[in-house]
Amino acid sequence: MVTRTAIQISKNIEDPIDPFIVIAGSLLHDIGKTTSHFANFHGLFGGSIAEEFLEGLEIENSTSERICRVVVRHTPTSSIPPETPEEKVVYDADTLDRLGLMGLLRGFIGKEGSMQEILEKYMTSRQLDYDKLNYEYSRELGMMGAQELEGFSAVIQKRLDDRMSSIEGIFEKEGLIGIGSSKKLKKKKK
Ligand SMILES: [Fe+2]
Repeated sequence: MVTRTAIQISKNIEDPIDPFIVIAGSLLHDIGKTTSHFANFHGLFGGSIAEEFLEGLEIENSTSERICRVVVRHTPTSSIPPETPEEKVVYDADTLDRLGLMGLLRGFIGKEGSMQEILEKYMTSRQLDYDKLNYEYSRELGMMGAQELEGFSAVIQKRLDDRMSSIEGIFEKEGLIGIGSSKKLKKKKK
């Protein structure tokens, strides 16, 4: 998905792009995710793995270095922003992947907290990620994804609201109040 989006962005921007660097970089961009222990460093870690991976292939050292730079700089967690057009393209493609529907679904996996909290956190970080996109064309793709996502998150929100009101109804019926406004449930005074 990231590779496909990276190719799409490459075709729609004015910056000159080396397609080999973009394709190799986007295919290898998450190679550092071999263990969750390095999740926040997977770009930096991935750069070293990619370097070893490419060693011995009949490609120029400078080409290998450019691919490794793409891997390192594809994510904000590396704290090294993308500089070359190829790095910016893969960065944007990876960000757009995170901003889409699949990104939202992945956002629910293994996260602590209520569905409501996870959804709110995701929508906030989504906006921050969107603001960091490098190309106008990427922002257009992001806007299209946002419309799809808003429909889906509205469905989730409605289900959560319905569930909450039915739970509140049960507590109300049992004479318990305070759910939602307080963690502790109290018996309603008669
Ligand atoms: Fe990544």
